[in-house]
Amino acid sequence: MRDDDGSGTARGTLAGKVCVITGAAHGIGEATAELFAREGARLVLTDRDAGALAEVVARLAGEGFGTVAVTGDVSDPGDARAMIAAAVDQYGRLDVLVANAGIIPLLDITEADADDWDEVMAIDGRGMFLTCKYAIEAMEPNGGGAIVCLSSISGLAGQRGQSTYGPAKFVATGLTMHLAVEWASRGIRVNAVAPGTVRTDRVRRLPQEPGGPEYLAAIERMHPMGRIGEPAEVAAAIRFLACDEASFITGAVLPVDGGYLAQ
Ligand SMILES: NC(=O)c1ccc[n+]([C@@H]2O[C@H](COP(=O)([O-])OP(=O)(O)OC[C@H]3O[C@@H](n4cnc5c(N)ncnc54)[C@H](O)[C@@H]3O)[C@@H](O)[C@H]2O)c1
Repeated sequence: MRDDDGSGTARGTLAGKVCVITGAAHGIGEATAELFAREGARLVLTDRDAGALAEVVARLAGEGFGTVAVTGDVSDPGDARAMIAAAVDQYGRLDVLVANAGIIPLLDITEADADDWDEVMAIDGRGMFLTCKYAIEAMEPNGGGAIVCLSSISGLAGQRGQSTYGPAKFVATGLTMHLAVEWASRGIRVNAVAPGTVRTDRVRRLPQEPGGPEYLAAIERMHPMGRIGEPAEVAAAIRFLACDEASFITGAVLPVDGGYLAQ
């Protein structure tokens, strides 16, 4: 692998760390997989989109980074358990979980129905709970580890049109803080990042949609920096919280938002 300098010593801030990333086929998860690979991590990449996941795995392989891929749905206990088990089976341990998989439905409460609520709570809420649960069970015997959850500005403050997604992201914030306290004395750090709007596939399509350019411009103006974020900028914050540089940080929810929450 490219993270090996030929002396047998892996280099990088995540050198040798066994990391599971959920939702690694697109967006922030994909950018995190690329950064973690360059930082020397041993990776298990998971997603429910098998085709896109295979493309990410193939691209990383082409750059000299071997990874393990697991297709599954984080809201399914069997699938979530299999994602974590793959790390232990392949590498003998788990050091880091990035609980990233999620959906982002934008609905006000008159548009949303009970099924919308259940779907986002199942994936963004229950899926994060399940992957954290199985990760902690795998980390504890090895004396510790680090979890980084994907919260959002929507998990720390109210937004319009986010009657189901916003509360699900408050679950991410709450899970982070409660698990951090529950596991601090046993060497497991649990933190979150809270991104503002990030240029993922959905946002990239906006300029081609009716009203999209105006909508995007309005979102950009809401961020004090006058722009939205890039997936790599969120990945950089996730890397920091995941690696040993953040050894005294737990229970933190780090905004990566161009100043949005400081207003
Ligand atoms: N994009 C943003 O502006 C933004 C802002 C704040 C927080 N976030 C959070 O970041 C995380 C990643 O979002 P993104 O913008 O990169 O989205 P994305 O849609 O680009 O990527 C999400 C990935 O998760 C996968 N996924 C969805 N449901 C799944 C499930 N049930 N099981 C397994 N995989 C599943 C998708 O297939 C996809 O590959 C989410 O938790 C989201 O809430 C995103």
